[in-house]
Amino acid sequence: MHIDWSADQVEKGPFEHFMLKEIHEQPLTLRNTMLGRINDQNEVIFPELAHAAGAFQHVDKIFIVACGTAFHAGLVGSTVLEKLTRIPVQCDIASEFRYRDPIITERTLVIVVSQSGETADTLAAMQESRRQGAKVLAITNVPTSSVARDADYVIATKAGPEIAVASTKAYTAQLLAFYLFSIYLAQERQTLSTELHTKLVQGLKALPVQVEKVLENANDVKLYAESIKDADSLFFIGRGLDYAVALEGSLKLKEISYIHSEAYAAGELKHGTLALIEKDTPVIALATHMDLYEKTVSNIKEVKARGAHVMGITVEGNVGLLNSVDEICFIPPSHHLLAPILAVVPLQLISYYASLALENDIDKPRNLAKSVTVE
Ligand code: G6P
Repeated sequence: MHIDWSADQVEKGPFEHFMLKEIHEQPLTLRNTMLGRINDQNEVIFPELAHAAGAFQHVDKIFIVACGTAFHAGLVGSTVLEKLTRIPVQCDIASEFRYRDPIITERTLVIVVSQSGETADTLAAMQESRRQGAKVLAITNVPTSSVARDADYVIATKAGPEIAVASTKAYTAQLLAFYLFSIYLAQERQTLSTELHTKLVQGLKALPVQVEKVLENANDVKLYAESIKDADSLFFIGRGLDYAVALEGSLKLKEISYIHSEAYAAGELKHGTLALIEKDTPVIALATHMDLYEKTVSNIKEVKARGAHVMGITVEGNVGLLNSVDEICFIPPSHHLLAPILAVVPLQLISYYASLALENDIDKPRNLAKSVTVE
């Protein structure tokens, strides 16, 4: 296999771990993934999809299929894609997809997401989808991979080599690929207002600098991360896209710190999980979407009333949240659909610094592999 990466891209440089280096590379990898894909008229273009001209016009159903972190990117992608294109979109775990006999026709588009492009379950799901007549679009970080070779269309994320087992920069590049593709498809199907189109493209262009800003405040979350290192269990809560990001934050923490954690849709807490909240249970509450904000705050109050210690993640200027939480982390303002790229960065840092305090093997966590090529 030929890989187009230079040797210095796979050195740690001044960073103690590849994971920290990769977290800090995100402004660059976002820029690279955006490069050449937004033209002077602010339209999204994909030169690599030129052979697909018109091919997406007849699509009436989209499945997104992936594993692990890529699945979590797909969850965000499904919401954004459906909202902008008005095509029904469903996100599935690759190891489940084939066995539930999904309804696939020639008008189905299956989007597979895989950093490595070699995950066995993802490959098998795409092969089955093609056998049943669907077209397959692959979002992958390795354009020479098996997934890229077997797909009808390929969008490459330009995250560069990701060495740490816990995925960070590949995830944010996958989110960006979803934003770009959603706008691209919406342009083709004329389902996006000029106003929203402009807001989203401007928002995308601002993201690399905004991620830099979040990284500048890494020390604030470091102290918090050290304070949770001895927790038995931690809960992440959020609504809408904040819930999708909560799932990724929880996975990151489990992968490298081995602290048990769960992500919950904030409104679902009262249906069981509240029973697990005791005095000082750490809860990380994401509240970045203003339309859902009041509802999330009332869920934060539910856990506070049971003694939880709450870290809130919200948008700059939203100081009112300080009345309901114990600690706070602000992310720069953006369109709420784009907030996941900004909100996940403090969560990546929290996992990293908690694991550092625990002296774990951060880049090579126990029992996990970077790429899983068996089913
Ligand atoms: C493994 C890795 C995860 C990754 C998943 C999917 O389980 O440890 O970090 O998210 O595979 O990998 P892929 O290469 O398909 O994105």
